[in-house]
Amino acid sequence: MEDKYILGIESSCDETSIAIVKNGREVISNVISSQIDIHKIYGGVVPEIASRNHTKNIDVVLSEALTSAGISLKDISAVAVTYGAGLLGALIVGVSFAKTLAYSLGVPLYGVNHIEGHIAANYIAHKDLKPPFVCLVVSGGHTCLFDMKDYTNKKLLGTTQDDAVGEAFDKISRELGFGYPGGPKIQKAAESGEKNITFISKPHAKDNLNFSYSGLKTAVINYLHNKKQKNEEINANDVARSFEEEAVDQLVEKSILACKKTGEKKIVVAGGVSANQMLRDKLTENAKKEGIETFFPPLILCTDNAAMIASQAYYNLLAGKKPDDLSLGPKSTISL
Ligand code: KG4
Ligand code: ZN
Repeated sequence: MEDKYILGIESSCDETSIAIVKNGREVISNVISSQIDIHKIYGGVVPEIASRNHTKNIDVVLSEALTSAGISLKDISAVAVTYGAGLLGALIVGVSFAKTLAYSLGVPLYGVNHIEGHIAANYIAHKDLKPPFVCLVVSGGHTCLFDMKDYTNKKLLGTTQDDAVGEAFDKISRELGFGYPGGPKIQKAAESGEKNITFISKPHAKDNLNFSYSGLKTAVINYLHNKKQKNEEINANDVARSFEEEAVDQLVEKSILACKKTGEKKIVVAGGVSANQMLRDKLTENAKKEGIETFFPPLILCTDNAAMIASQAYYNLLAGKKPDDLSLGPKSTISL
């Protein structure tokens, strides 16, 4: 098959990103314009502001992606775009832009599931990685385990029954006054803290592959409110460390259990929370004891980016999936 240069577009949340990826694994360019500085003053992403900034930035991001790749639009084999899940107004910008581009270039259009994109970030990072494997997807909106049968078929093994782990990081960071996005800030504070507080006395269900984070989140918030009411001092670093350990332990236990249940010997981690160093260390160490190999994307590919979207589209194309037509629309949720 001739080389495929796929142009990927990502606009599901607060990153406007366009990338060009060759044959699914080789990143030619990956431009990410983050709106974090705009949203952090509000303590989280404001959907309407996100859409407006995508509209403002997207054509500049496209020019930069083409310039840094050193190729022109006529070299593009297909256009890929995140069509969901995400913020509806933000998705509309990327999807409309992608449809226009694909139509005007006369190339196929592939709508990509954002979660599958996050998983594909690992194909870029680990050139020999191939399904099957167990995949832990941890982001601001998802906490799930999949049995990846092949590049385009995944079986859901378990998911959060309430909050996503990234959401818990963000909420607790806000309560501690660290701001948005919470993950990196909690991680930093936890490095100088000790695990000397137990938030959840009742262990979570250990025999199934579902997750739960609302109990832990509420326990931390109650702890902070109690301390404030009593005018007692709070050691924010210890709170961050104690929370992070409990949050990570749940991810590690369930991921290893998923391998035991499926017989897989590889765990691939994807999504924004895969940037977390404690998760990387604890999962790698515990999995190794069970003879399980672990894979994480490099930090730049953990959070939202378009290279991962282009990569997944390549595997959709290889699997013979029918390209989308101009009726492709954004979806705020997609069934797992
Ligand atoms: O995948 P992503 O960029 O966006 C979604 O699809 O949701 O993930 C964003 C999430 C946020 O909740 C953020 O706090 C979390 O990833 N995150 C982290 C770290 N870096 C980002 N969580 C824990 N530790 C980190 N180092
Ligand atoms: Zn994401």
